Order: sequence, then C-alpha cells, then structure tokens
Amino acid sequence: MTERLKGKSALITGAARGIGRAFAEAYVREGATVAIGDINFEAAKKTAAEIGPAAYAVPLDVTDQASIDAAISAVEEKSGGIDILINNAALFDLAPIIEITRESYDKLFSINVAGTLFTLQAAARSMIKRGKGGKIINMASQAGRRGEPLVAIYCATKAAVISLTQSAGLNLIKHGINVNAIAPGVVDGEHWDGVDALFAKYENRPIGEKKRLVGQEVPFGRMGRAEDLTGMAILLATPEADYIVAQTYNVDGGNWMS
Ligand SMILES: NC(=O)c1ccc[n+]([C@@H]2O[C@H](COP(=O)([O-])OP(=O)(O)OC[C@H]3O[C@@H](n4cnc5c(N)ncnc54)[C@H](O)[C@@H]3O)[C@@H](O)[C@H]2O)c1
Repeated sequence: MTERLKGKSALITGAARGIGRAFAEAYVREGATVAIGDINFEAAKKTAAEIGPAAYAVPLDVTDQASIDAAISAVEEKSGGIDILINNAALFDLAPIIEITRESYDKLFSINVAGTLFTLQAAARSMIKRGKGGKIINMASQAGRRGEPLVAIYCATKAAVISLTQSAGLNLIKHGINVNAIAPGVVDGEHWDGVDALFAKYENRPIGEKKRLVGQEVPFGRMGRAEDLTGMAILLATPEADYIVAQTYNVDGGNWMS
C-alpha cells in the first residue's frame, strides 16, 4: 500500500497519549514525520521514542503564545515546515450549572478554544509564508453538537471549536489551507476514565458504570477506540480532501447525525 502522507510534516497537539497518540502512530505509518506537542513533555518524549524515529517531541502549552510560537519554529527547523496540524489538546470538566466555577470556565476555554484558535493561527501563518497550503484538523466532539446537563463548559468549548472550524475554514481556503474537524463520540482511554470518575461523583454511581452505559448506547454497539478515528484523520490530511472545507465530521458509531 502506498503511504498516503509520505514526506509530510505534521504537528499534533496533546499527542503524548490517547487519541493524539493514535493519530501520531497512524501518520507515521502513512509516511509522515510527526511532532508530538504536549504540555507533558516527559510523556511526549516517551511516546515519540516508542513510535520511532519519524516522531519527535516538542514542548507545547497551547495556552501560552510563546510556547506555541516556539513549537511552530521547532517544527519548521526540524522538518522544513508544517503540512498538517491536528489541534487535539483539550481538557474536560463536569459540574452542575450552580456549581460551575470561573476557574474551570477559564481553564477549559483557554485550552480548548483559545488553544485551538491560536495554534491554528500560528500554523496558518507558517503555512502561508511557505506557500504550499496545508491541512488543519480540529478535534471537536459530540459534546459540541448539543448540551448536556452536567457538561456545560466542555460542550460550549466544543461548539466553539465547530464554529471556529467554519470561520477559519472559510477564511483560509484561499491560501490552500483546508480547516476541518472531527467530532468523536465516546472514546475509551485515560480521558474517559477521568470522565467516568466525575460522573461517579456527581451521579452517585459506582466507578465504571457510566462508561458501560454510554458504550451500550452507541448504535455501533461499543465505545469508540482511538484507532476508530485515524481513518478520518488520515483522509482529511490527504489531497483527496482538498475540496472539503470548514466541515465537522461525526466519527462516533452513530451517536449523532448531522
Ligand atoms: N476521549 C473521548 O471520548 C473524546 C470524545 C470526544 C472528543 N474528544 C476530544 O479528542 C481530543 C483527544 O482526547 P483524548 O481522549 O485523547 O484526551 P486525553 O486527555 O487522553 O489527552 C489530552 C492530551 O492533551 C494534553 N494537554 C492538556 N493540556 C494541554 C496544553 N495546555 N497544551 C498541550 N497539551 C495539553 C495532555 O497532556 C494529554 O496528553 C480532545 O480534543 C478531546 O476533547 C475526546
């Protein structure tokens, strides 16, 4: 099989673990060189070493503009430019409306929304300067398609990601930069272990029960796995997706239709 991303340079934020890591592995299999950008630099280095020589770690805090700029420069230096950015880093939190704190609001919006926008902006500037176009993929969520009683802030951040994808997609396509998004449903892993523990606390459930229930409710018949998302992440990074602009694709086993 031909490598669909041969010679491409990608930056994936929050790729030390979970879905981002699966994207990095898949991109490397498809012939790309991948920068694993993560606030947990030690974990990013370990992940990169485990993936192999086509992966390397860059320190990155998407809430810090200097850190974003340094990461983009590091990728430019190492790989000669950026062809693909996946805005994957995000944080989850959960609370009833009357218990939501400003601290949680500021933190989630700063990582999930501002982090996505300003990393996208820095990558787009770099891509425009280079003049070869590019692909930007934002990680949205089914949470961005509708509200949930206990998940107001996270849902709002992911709705904002869908909206930013539309605006950035429309604004950047004239530079040959495609901006699109993926909206996963419920994906098993360390992230959902944390979500499950929060639901256990607020819905007074035993640990593991919420995860089991959400898995049962997926039309496909089980929770997602990070690997279930890699096909869409590869497709959106290839020239096959050149005519796809400003879209958000649900990859969720049938949970949401839009
Ligand atoms: N797991 C799911 O069920 C699910 C569902 C829908 C959407 N998503 C989205 O998919 C993406 C990946 O999810 P995941 O389950 O792999 O999450 P995860 O929590 O397992 O991984 C997130 C990564 O982001 C990193 N990170 C956190 N803050 C950062 C910052 N400020 N700067 C840089 N890196 C930072 C973390 O260190 C971690 O490695 C997220 O955008 C998430 O919202 C996940």
